[in-house]
Amino acid sequence: MAHILVTFHSQTGNTEKMARAVAAGVAQTRNARANLKAALETTAEDIRDCDAVVFCSPEYFGYMSGAMKDLFDRTYEELKDDPRSLKKPYCIVISAGNDGSGAVRHIERICKGYRFKKVQNPMICKGPVTPDMLALCEELGETIAEGINARIF
Ligand SMILES: Cc1cc2nc3c(=O)[nH]c(=O)nc-3n(C[C@H](O)[C@H](O)[C@H](O)COP(=O)(O)O)c2cc1C
Repeated sequence: MAHILVTFHSQTGNTEKMARAVAAGVAQTRNARANLKAALETTAEDIRDCDAVVFCSPEYFGYMSGAMKDLFDRTYEELKDDPRSLKKPYCIVISAGNDGSGAVRHIERICKGYRFKKVQNPMICKGPVTPDMLALCEELGETIAEGINARIF
């Protein structure tokens, strides 16, 4: 069974809506389950024990949210040489006012340090989170779960 960690931070709810849609997409896939968790509560164990991670963050000041950075700060030393997190499939979901590229760039750079494997292009929502965007997030959740089950990722 594909076990997908969807870890998020959100102040005003936009990123949380996207993260919930990704998790719903995972949950509606056969043989898959989602672990939807706030970044501040996510642990190294959560990352180590899942089959793939979706990092969902707002862009703040051209960067990821402090809470997402805190997750990386807390888990890097423990995971960087752990064979169970090496090449862990991941993707990024960003909610931004009008950009999002800085948050993506910095998360990707950190994920390289962990030696995680990017398996889907980042999803960036600029401006309000629309129903169409939520449908894309759901699709992303399904794609990741199906890719894990099919051993594509
Ligand atoms: C402190 C702060 C800094 C922000 N900086 C950026 C930014 O650099 N680029 C951008 O596109 N949007 C920026 N925004 C807008 C947020 O990314 C956007 O409102 C996002 O949807 C917030 O997500 P949330 O509701 O999950 O907290 C910023 C918002 C705040 C509160």
